[in-house]
Amino acid sequence: MQESGNPCIFIPYQRDLAMKTLCNPGMLLLLIMLTNTGIMSQQPAQDVFTVIHNRKSVRQYADKPVENEKVETLLKAAMAAPTARNIQPWLFYVITSRQVLDQLAADLPYAKMLAHAPMAIVVAGDTHKGNPNQEQKLNWALDCSAATQNLLLAAEALGLGAVWTGVFPYSQRVEAVSQALELPAHIIPLNVIPVGYPASDEQPKDKWDPEKIRWID
Ligand SMILES: Cc1cc2nc3c(=O)[nH]c(=O)nc-3n(C[C@H](O)[C@H](O)[C@H](O)COP(=O)(O)O)c2cc1C
Repeated sequence: MQESGNPCIFIPYQRDLAMKTLCNPGMLLLLIMLTNTGIMSQQPAQDVFTVIHNRKSVRQYADKPVENEKVETLLKAAMAAPTARNIQPWLFYVITSRQVLDQLAADLPYAKMLAHAPMAIVVAGDTHKGNPNQEQKLNWALDCSAATQNLLLAAEALGLGAVWTGVFPYSQRVEAVSQALELPAHIIPLNVIPVGYPASDEQPKDKWDPEKIRWID
C-alpha cells in the first residue's frame, strides 16, 4: 500500500486500495502478520538526511521499556557498518538488568544517566578477530565506532533517544565495564549506549562549518 508524504493522509485512490486490502482475507492476514512481526509498528521511514541531521545525544528517558523488535533493528543497523577487511570484530551486550545498569552508572563518571535508562547497549571489540598486526591492532575501535554511529542513527529513526558514553581508551572505565559484564581480557568495551524513549526535548546541534573544508583541486 502506497502512502502519501504524511503517513496519516491517504488520497482517495489509496483509500479505495486500503478498503480493498482490508476486505481481502489474504491481504488482511499479511497485514496482521506484518503488524505482529513489528515491521508495521515501527516508525514510518524517514529520509536518511533527515535522520542524520536530527540525531542528537539524549540523556533523559521516559519510564518505558524499549520493544525487543526495536532493539533488534538497532543491532541490525549496527552490524551493517563497514569494517576493515570485513572482519566484523564486534560484540553487542544488551543490558536490561537494573542491577547492572545501576552498577555501570555508579562506576562511570560521565554515564550517570544509566541509572534512569531502561536499557543500554555496550559495543565491544574482539581483539582476537582477524589476527591483526601492530599497525592494524586498533582497527576494532574504528569498526566498532562505525557500528555505533549506525546504531545511533537507527535509534533516531525509531524515535528513541541514545547517547554514546565513552569507555575505551580510558583504562579505569574499560576495567569497570569489563568487571560488570565479566568480559574476558580480549574483549574491550568501546562505549556504553543508554537507550530509551526521550523524556527531554533535545535539539540537534548545527555543526556545519564551511571553514573546516579544504578543497584540493
Ligand atoms: C567518543 C565519544 C565519547 C563520548 N562520551 C560521552 C560521555 O562519556 N558522556 C556523555 O554524556 N556524552 C558523551 N559523548 C557524547 C558527546 O558529548 C556528544 O556527541 C557531543 O556533545 C555532541 O552532541 P550531539 O551528540 O548531540 O551532536 C561522547 C561522544 C563520543 C563520540
